[in-house]
Amino acid sequence: MCGIIGITGRDDAIDGIVAGLKRLEYRGYDSAGVVANDGRDLRVVKRAGKLEQLTGALAGQPLASRAGIGHTRWATHGAPTDRNAHPHVEPAGRVAVVHNGIIENYQSLKAGLGDVRFASDTDSEVVAHLVGRELETMDAPDLFDAVRRVLPQLRGAYSLCFTALDDPETIVVAKYEAPLIVAHADGVGYCASDVTALIAYTRDVAALRDGQVARISPDGIEVTDAEGALAEPHRYTVNWDLDAAEKQGYDHFMLKEIFEQPQAVLDTLLDRYTAPEPGSSPRLHLDELRIDELDLARIDKVFVLACGTSLHAGMVGKLAIEHWAGIPVDVEVASEFRYRDPIVDPHTLVIAISQSGETVDTIAAASHARDQRAPVLAICNVVGSTLAREADGVLYTHAGPEVAVASTKAFTTQIVGSLLIGLYLAQVRGRMYATETADIIARLQQIPTALERVLELDGEIRELAERYKDTDYTMFIGRHAGLPIAMEGALKLKEISYLHAEAFPAGEMKHGPIALIEPGSLVVALASAGHVFAKMVSNIQEVRARGASVLALGTDGSTAELKEHADHVLTLPEAPHELAGPVLSVVPLQLVSYHVATLRGEDVDQPRNLAKTVTVE
Ligand code: G6P
Repeated sequence: MCGIIGITGRDDAIDGIVAGLKRLEYRGYDSAGVVANDGRDLRVVKRAGKLEQLTGALAGQPLASRAGIGHTRWATHGAPTDRNAHPHVEPAGRVAVVHNGIIENYQSLKAGLGDVRFASDTDSEVVAHLVGRELETMDAPDLFDAVRRVLPQLRGAYSLCFTALDDPETIVVAKYEAPLIVAHADGVGYCASDVTALIAYTRDVAALRDGQVARISPDGIEVTDAEGALAEPHRYTVNWDLDAAEKQGYDHFMLKEIFEQPQAVLDTLLDRYTAPEPGSSPRLHLDELRIDELDLARIDKVFVLACGTSLHAGMVGKLAIEHWAGIPVDVEVASEFRYRDPIVDPHTLVIAISQSGETVDTIAAASHARDQRAPVLAICNVVGSTLAREADGVLYTHAGPEVAVASTKAFTTQIVGSLLIGLYLAQVRGRMYATETADIIARLQQIPTALERVLELDGEIRELAERYKDTDYTMFIGRHAGLPIAMEGALKLKEISYLHAEAFPAGEMKHGPIALIEPGSLVVALASAGHVFAKMVSNIQEVRARGASVLALGTDGSTAELKEHADHVLTLPEAPHELAGPVLSVVPLQLVSYHVATLRGEDVDQPRNLAKTVTVE
C-alpha cells in the first residue's frame, strides 16, 4: 500500500528518493510523486501509473535539492490520476504532504476550511491545508509545532510526512496506526514506510510508535509524543542486507522467493529446541514471550486471526493445535473479528499471523482481543513491526524480506511457525512426552530437503502451465491439511494470473459446486497419502465422471493409485509428518501460478489492484 520516503541532507536527495520508491514498489501502488524543497519553491512532479512514468517526467525536469519527500499511492479516495497522486501542496505553496492511511473525517475538515479550492479528490490534501493555515497564524512559523496542532483534529489512520519552505532541511513526520521508520546516518536524515527503502543507507532504524511525531534534519532526529515531550521510538538493527532485497539473477522476486523456501524453513526451525539433558525436560523456544507459561497452560480456546495467505497458514495451525495441544481453535478473517461479539476472556489465546506485521485489520483484531485481556501471540516475519511490538509473544518466521506481493516463503514459514506453536502449547500443557516432541521436531528438520526435491519439479510444472494457461476457471479441492492448500492455490492463481479460481472442501462438492463441472473443467486435487486419501480418490472420481480434467498432487505413496483416476499426477516426496504436508504441497501450486502468470504476460511481482501491506481497513 502507499509508500513514503523522505530524505534530508544529501545533494542528490531526489535521486535517493526515487531509488527508495523503487524499493517500495512491492507494496503495491498506482501513482507516484516527489517534491523537492530548495527553500525557494516546492517543486512537485507526480504521475499516474508506474514509476517509469514519474522517472520519465523527471528526466525532462531534473530536481536539485538537499531535501524532499516521495510517495507511491494506492488509491482509496479518488481515482489513480496525476492530480490525486501525492505529494499535495496547500494553496499558498508553503507545505507539502504525503500520507499513508485514511483520514476518515476529511469531509468535515474540508467543510471547516470554508470556501477553499482543493486540487485533488483525496482525503489527504486537507492535511496540507490545515498545516498551512496553522503556519500562517504563527509569529515564528514552525512546521513541527504546526503539525502537532493539526494532529488532534484528524480521525483515522496515518503516517504523514511534511516538508515546508520555512525550514527546507527539516522533514516532519507523524504516525498513527500506519507504519513509519526513521533513521539518521552520515549526516543524512531519512524516513520511510518500511526499512526496504532505507536498507541501502543504514540498518540502524527506529520505528515510531502511535502518536509520536518526529523532526528529521541532517543534524539528527528528535521524537516526541503528541504533547511535545521527548519520546523513545522502537530502535532496532535490521538483520538482513541489501543483497536479500535484490533479485539475484531471478526474473522475478516471486520466483526467487519460491526457491528460497528450503533455506527460509531451515532458518525458521533454527535453535528452536533444546534437546533433553538427562534429568531435564526439552524446551521449545519462541523469540519473545511476555506471557506467563502458567497462563498459557490454562488457555481453553484459541482464535487464529489473519488475512489473505496468512489466514491459510492459520488453518493449518488450527489442525496442529487441536491435534497436539487439545485446545479448540477458531480461525477467522481478521477484518470480521471485531465487528461481531467474539467470546474472548483471559483464558482465550489469540494467535495473530502476519508476514508484514502491519496489516491493519490483523493489528486491530489483536488489539480488540487484548482489550478483553486475552493474551496475543504473533507469528510475524518483519522484526520490530507493529504487531510484533504489541503482541505478548512473538515467533518470528525468519523468512527474510519478502518482496513479491504474492506471498510464498512467508506462507511456508508461517505454517512451520504454527506447527511450532502447536508443539509449544502441547509442551506447556504437559500434553506430550518429551520423546514425542523430540521425534516431531526431528521430522520437521527434514522439510528443507524435501522442499528441494519438490522444487526439482519446476520443469514439469512449467509444461503443465503451458497446457492450462488459458483455462479460465479452475476448481481446487482438498480435505484436512489439503484444504488450506487448495484455498491458497486458488488465491495464488487469482492474485497473479487474474484467472477465476475457487477452492472447496472436497466433501462439499456434491452439495453444490459439482453443478459447475462439465466436460473440460479443470480440477486440481490435493491428494497426498494420509488418512483422507481414500476419500479424496472418491471425490476425484466424482468430478472425473462428469468430464473434468484432473490435475492431482500426490505423494510417493499415493501416486500409483492416483494415476488411474487423474489426467496428470505430480508426485511429491512423502512429508515427514502429515501436518507438514502443506509446506510441500503448496510449492507446486505457487509454481503453477507463477508460470501461468508469466506465460500470460502478467506483472507477477506487482499484480494489479493488490498491495503487499494493507494498511487501510
Ligand atoms: C495482502 C497481501 C497478501 C497477504 C495479506 C496479509 O493482501 O497481498 O499476500 O497474505 O495482505 O498480509 P500479512 O502481511 O498480514 O501477512
